[in-house]
Amino acid sequence: MTLLRQASALHAAGDLPAAEALYVRILAQHPDEPNALNLLGTLKRQQGLFSNAVPLVRRALALRPGAPVFQASLGALLAETGALEEAVVLLRQATAQRPEDALSLRNLGQALCGLGQARAALSPLRRAVKLRPDAAAQLALAHACREAGARPEARAAAEAAARDPDFAEQAGFLLAALGAAATPDRAPAAYVRDLFDQYAPRFEADLTGKLGYRTPEALAGLLRETGIAEDRSLDVLDLGCGTGLSGRALAPFARRLEGLDLSPRMLEAARAAGGYDALHEADLLDFLPAHPARFDLVAAADVLNYLGALDGALAAMVRALRPGGIAAFSLELGEAAPFALGEGLRYRHAPAAIAGLCAAAGLAPLAERRTVLREERGAPVEGLLLLLRR
Ligand SMILES: C[S@@+](CC[C@H](N)C(=O)[O-])C[C@H]1O[C@@H](n2cnc3c(N)ncnc32)[C@H](O)[C@@H]1O
Repeated sequence: MTLLRQASALHAAGDLPAAEALYVRILAQHPDEPNALNLLGTLKRQQGLFSNAVPLVRRALALRPGAPVFQASLGALLAETGALEEAVVLLRQATAQRPEDALSLRNLGQALCGLGQARAALSPLRRAVKLRPDAAAQLALAHACREAGARPEARAAAEAAARDPDFAEQAGFLLAALGAAATPDRAPAAYVRDLFDQYAPRFEADLTGKLGYRTPEALAGLLRETGIAEDRSLDVLDLGCGTGLSGRALAPFARRLEGLDLSPRMLEAARAAGGYDALHEADLLDFLPAHPARFDLVAAADVLNYLGALDGALAAMVRALRPGGIAAFSLELGEAAPFALGEGLRYRHAPAAIAGLCAAAGLAPLAERRTVLREERGAPVEGLLLLLRR
């Protein structure tokens, strides 16, 4: 069909509006044309419109059951929306029929990793790397190997990924976690964004259900006990707001509640849940200095553990606070001073170093509490909640 060829050429060239118009025209004439349905679904996925994309690709697969191209397409899409179990089934079917499909093998491995099945992810990821040894596949293999305890292979794959400048920072971060490179000052923004984009659909159920996450309520409780009134009188900024769990805990203090996060998919969930007066897609280290003396309360629940060096973040929080304003945040505790990268690829901070850093930033202690923030692999994650006044 020449129209379909034209449309997919426009699509491949990046002209999404023109391609979309042609797909829609084709489907008006042939509503059951599976390739047009699949390609329009792919286009919607590229636009971030997942809820439009899934039914289109599902229909393509229903019209051609068992077609590996549609299984692969729907599998990749479902993996992105967090429906990992169904994604794994489809990607297994697709790669059984097309064992040379390196991208689907990588998608399958990453979905298995997302389900906590790192060992099962090794075989498809090793095959993906063999077929197409690009940095994305090497990095995915490195992550799976690290989680599965295959450290020498993880290191080799991360070193291979690090040769690509676009992946060097993320690969370096992983090498640091493997003890094969110096620990960087922070988790790479791209790593945090990808991690939480992928996690967004399952985040709340996993954290509050499986992992017993309680930091937002604990932080709000400490604010209350310190005498901060729940009278909706403060301009509040929820740093790393995620899907909005922390915003819901902070809302009783807020006249105006703003949230910011690196991850567009987490922000989408926060937007859908409502409750924020404004949401910003930004790195906290960029946003805070650009908004001087704007907030009465700046809070970060389970966020500063993606930073190692805290001096920049603390100084930036001070800058964004009005005089007398309050910084409220949690940290994961560890022994190594001033910080070390933990097993979960989050930073742990040594209690002895924290007070000095806060004082140097111009923050005076108001209250602090040691507490369990959540569980990780069945073990409690020890943390510290801190309230400080500018
Ligand atoms: C574990 S979640 C916590 C979300 C929320 N605060 C809660 O308590 O449910 C951490 C969030 O912080 C965000 N984050 C981490 N580092 C960040 C940074 N430097 N700037 C902005 N957001 C960041 C992540 O994208 C993620 O959504």
